[in-house]
Amino acid sequence: MNYRHHYHAGNYADVFKHVLLLQLIRAMQRKEKGFLYLDTHAGRGGYDLAVPSILPDGRTREPEHPAGIGRLWGATDLPVPINDYLALVRRFNERRGEPGEELKFYPGSPWIAKLLLRPQDRMVLCELRPDDAEALDFDFARETGVKVLTMDGYTALKAQLPPLEKRALVLIDPPFETKVEFADIQRGVTDALRRLPGAVVAVWYPITERARTEEFHRTLLELAVPALFAELSIAGESSLLRMKGCGLLILNPPWQIDREIRAVLPVLAERLKVEAGGSAGCGWLVPEQ
Ligand SMILES: C[S@@+](CC[C@H](N)C(=O)[O-])C[C@H]1O[C@@H](n2cnc3c(N)ncnc32)[C@H](O)[C@@H]1O
Repeated sequence: MNYRHHYHAGNYADVFKHVLLLQLIRAMQRKEKGFLYLDTHAGRGGYDLAVPSILPDGRTREPEHPAGIGRLWGATDLPVPINDYLALVRRFNERRGEPGEELKFYPGSPWIAKLLLRPQDRMVLCELRPDDAEALDFDFARETGVKVLTMDGYTALKAQLPPLEKRALVLIDPPFETKVEFADIQRGVTDALRRLPGAVVAVWYPITERARTEEFHRTLLELAVPALFAELSIAGESSLLRMKGCGLLILNPPWQIDREIRAVLPVLAERLKVEAGGSAGCGWLVPEQ
């Protein structure tokens, strides 16, 4: 496990994922009844953007956040959900003792969720790397309604579902370091839905080759539950970039979330694209005829 999320904190993929996560949480909260937020691949929780990322050869890695949240920070003409997300990031900086206008810290998915959850909601955060899990545990030690587990997120799906609340939002955000990740996701999601058929499950995935994305979509169609995908490409199909964008696959999506996501995607694409051909889209997975 070489992946460290610190390298990527606040990049375009984080912005996309966290804006949509915020929209999903708000949609879950349209009902008064509490729910479980289960983050299977939680990371460290929060990131100090001033700490440089060092490559194995000792060189300093270029930070990725300037081309991500950096392109939105300070903008005044954004749709409500993106402003809402930026306000959360500002709140996170304030909590870290940085109330100014400068962006110094970036919240990972655990803090995005924590800043939104109500007293009747709770969260379980899983992280496999012991050092990151320890940092996460330390960060949330004084928070109520949060459990941090140092364990495999896919195993946690079996252990944590169904929750007492009978409602859950699951975020599966793996590092995609191995070729078996897509197969692990399919197994994990199958386990989750067997235990809680109505669970809202959001899976983040990278877009490299179109055929691979289509194969991934096909495997999730086999689960036979409503499935929505949202994708953001920062470059066109023919780009030389290996990762051209990313997507979020949402199983059992909350009512009208497709409309809400469609309202923010064009703005994210316009602001975050790095090459001509960058685009965004959202659609329902439907079986091929
Ligand atoms: C993409 S990062 C998560 C970022 C986080 N969700 C966020 O949005 O801020 C993936 C994390 O999963 C952890 N990880 C890798 N394999 C795991 C597994 N099988 N179970 C739980 N965590 C895992 C990695 O150490 C890494 O911190």
